[in-house]
Amino acid sequence: GLSSSNSVERKIYIPLNYTAPCVRLLNATHQIGCQSSINGDTGVIHVVEKEEDLQWVLKDGPNPPYMVLLEGDLFTREVMLKLKDTRRVSGMAVVISKPNPAGGYSPDLRCPNDGFGAYSPTHSPELAHCNGTVWNPFGNGLSYEDFKFPIFLLKDENETQVIKQCYLEHNIPVNGSAPKFPLCAMQLFSHMLAVTDTVTCMRRNSIQARFNLNPEMLCDALGDYNVWSVVKPINNSGTAEPEEKFILAATRLDSRSFFWDIVPAAESTVSGFVTLLAAAQTIQKLPDVQSLKKNIMFVFFQGETFDYIGSSRMVYDMEQGKFVLNLDNIDSFLELSQVGFSSNFSLWAHSDPVSRRNATINQQVMDLVSVVQNSSAGTNITVAEPPNSQALPPSSFQRFLRARNIPGVVLTDHKSSFSNRYYQSVYDTAENLLLKYPRELSPEEALNHVTDVAESLTEVATTVARTLYLLAGGTQRPSMIKADPLTATSRSHLSFLVCAQKIFFFYIWRHGASNYLRNTPLWYYVSVSSPATPTRLVQYVLANLTGTATDLTKDQCQNPTKDAGAEKDLYDYIWVQGSSSENSSEPTPFCVETTVRLSKALSPAFELKEWGSTEYSTWTESRWKEIRARIFLIASKELEIITLIVGLVILVVSLVGIYFINAKVDVLFTSAREPSTVAY
Ligand SMILES: *[C@@H]1O[C@H](CO)[C@@H](O)[C@H](O)[C@H]1NC(C)=O
Ligand SMILES: *[C@@H]1O[C@H](CO)[C@@H](O)[C@H](O)[C@H]1NC(C)=O
Ligand SMILES: *[C@@H]1O[C@H](CO)[C@@H](O)[C@H](O)[C@H]1NC(C)=O
Ligand SMILES: *[C@@H]1O[C@H](CO)[C@@H](O)[C@H](O)[C@H]1NC(C)=O
Ligand SMILES: *[C@@H]1O[C@H](CO)[C@@H](O)[C@H](O)[C@H]1NC(C)=O
Ligand SMILES: *[C@@H]1O[C@H](CO)[C@@H](O)[C@H](O)[C@H]1NC(C)=O
Ligand SMILES: *[C@@H]1O[C@H](CO)[C@@H](O)[C@H](O)[C@H]1NC(C)=O
Ligand SMILES: *[C@@H]1O[C@H](CO)[C@@H](O)[C@H](O)[C@H]1NC(C)=O
Repeated sequence: GLSSSNSVERKIYIPLNYTAPCVRLLNATHQIGCQSSINGDTGVIHVVEKEEDLQWVLKDGPNPPYMVLLEGDLFTREVMLKLKDTRRVSGMAVVISKPNPAGGYSPDLRCPNDGFGAYSPTHSPELAHCNGTVWNPFGNGLSYEDFKFPIFLLKDENETQVIKQCYLEHNIPVNGSAPKFPLCAMQLFSHMLAVTDTVTCMRRNSIQARFNLNPEMLCDALGDYNVWSVVKPINNSGTAEPEEKFILAATRLDSRSFFWDIVPAAESTVSGFVTLLAAAQTIQKLPDVQSLKKNIMFVFFQGETFDYIGSSRMVYDMEQGKFVLNLDNIDSFLELSQVGFSSNFSLWAHSDPVSRRNATINQQVMDLVSVVQNSSAGTNITVAEPPNSQALPPSSFQRFLRARNIPGVVLTDHKSSFSNRYYQSVYDTAENLLLKYPRELSPEEALNHVTDVAESLTEVATTVARTLYLLAGGTQRPSMIKADPLTATSRSHLSFLVCAQKIFFFYIWRHGASNYLRNTPLWYYVSVSSPATPTRLVQYVLANLTGTATDLTKDQCQNPTKDAGAEKDLYDYIWVQGSSSENSSEPTPFCVETTVRLSKALSPAFELKEWGSTEYSTWTESRWKEIRARIFLIASKELEIITLIVGLVILVVSLVGIYFINAKVDVLFTSAREPSTVAY
């Protein structure tokens, strides 16, 4: 806002409008991410399109420091390690690759969430550190490095073109000699307030809070809310009876990438939760679902990327008796992980070799797997088991196993290493899923178009729904159960991946809050401002798919009482936008009765104030004051110094002049008459 009124600044600087920063995160022992100095970092732009171009930046170029404009496919570990420790680089802008890098790309670790799952040096050390299976072989770990300079992503091709044009016009070395001033430069602002680690930052936060009237917090714990619902309503004010058994059907809601606000997560996250939403809808529609022997609980965990924030909190709450269920109520566990199917249609049922050493558990897991296999009959999906000794892939289920032996499986589309080649990167987009809509479709037609991907996810949803039904004690023929390809998978895919506004979401969304829905893809980073839009959306979609419309008025909906026929202990009531009827363009809002609820997904480490915990996630996000980027032309150092000296000389001369004029003022400006006395 400051610069908008300053016309000189507007003439000099071109702001970049479509960038995404890399920000700083901290855990118990480290800081990761990027930052600029407090006034932003400036450097002469140099475009690096192939590795040889680095020579200029690292050695030959006469005008360091440089701002490197790096092509996306060079954003690799080798290149970054070369640039990391040189003082000749003041920052970096990465151009997103189009199409996606053919060889795969993941800035995440090769062994994600290492040490916080079921396998760690203290729990089953023989499987710790991905000993046996490296889950993410494409991982280069850049997301977990600490960079001392700012790194931004350029999202918009036209803007990249503007920068390249400026570079071509001013910065190209002519015949190997240095280019002439003025040169095109870039300035990046992303100064981070927190340093070192979470322990340090939380200590400083608490000093601020204690001694400062206007405390300036330095970092915030990552966290949000888990979304959960049950098929048969349960009393949310009490706790479930010990003999009540629940099948937990879980998936995760979040992901991350190197850059803060570009987290498409199509295969790593969205494929799983869209499928679980479809399964939840299918189950709820079955006629005999309220009479099943066991209950089914759907859980969407937040913050799993950062050492299992959501699931570790739920397990902690269950252990502390702060959740409606406790661990004894869990009959079995079914988790949907990545099910993108970029290659074929086999589903792999992973289980935990350690808990299966117990014969009882082993038998239960074997039964569970055969139920899943039978449930896939009549679909295109084949279900198989990976070798018995293989560990579980990173999954929320690991946090439950860490607390207790529970029979369960994790369903994925990969046998060993991830088949997703863009795990937790900016390239894990709808295109990665080969999700394509014919170009000529209008938004309304796209809504009714079932893609191939949706088709196959529907079959997975069918398999999951049948499995849950049978596990809960259903007796009808499971082949009757079929997920609906249109509503759940196809429409929600479109909405969750391509555009969150209007289509599908608008009608089910909280009344009067439509400005939260933007016309762009959502991003699935857990963040610190909760509940984030994806959490809310999953809550509302699940409420729409499994809840019932009631005729409560707005007041009754917001203050549900027994007199109005509401059961506050059993249900939640939400006032939604509603669709427009044929006679009026205004939508008619209504009240939905639902078992969907939110539960806190903040790491227990912050609840316990154990900021150095190795048991629970300790990730925090640094705060910052401003994040922006701009380009402009800079003059040479000599010219700047000459300008400065000339300016100083003029200043001194004029000061001296004024001094003498002032001293001789009565001589120079003699007044004809005596000054009159004026009374004020
Ligand atoms: C960003 O937006 C401003 C204001 O609309 C415009 O002047 C500027 O040229 C834009 N930047 C680029 C690189 O296009
Ligand atoms: C914190 O993160 C760093 C970087 O990923 C990692 O090496 C370290 O083990 C983590 N510390 C804890 C306590 O998890
Ligand atoms: C880039 O500019 C062209 C022509 O001005 C325009 O048609 C196109 O939509 C722009 N692309 C983006 C990504 O904004
Ligand atoms: C570059 O060098 C070549 C041969 O030495 C010369 O002909 C040409 O004019 C030079 N170009 C510029 C822009 O100085
Ligand atoms: C729910 O549990 C609370 C506390 O145990 C109890 O007071 C309330 O009556 C219960 N509600 C229903 C609908 O059973
Ligand atoms: C196996 O697990 C069951 C149920 O958790 C438990 O009751 C039993 O004691 C365990 N058996 C052994 C040999 O540990
Ligand atoms: C779910 O949304 C659809 C429109 O998208 C609407 O017709 C239906 O009534 C909604 N159902 C509930 C229970 O909210
Ligand atoms: C629309 O208006 C017509 C005539 O006024 C009426 O017959 C019809 O029932 C209305 N439809 C709805 C959905 O209100």
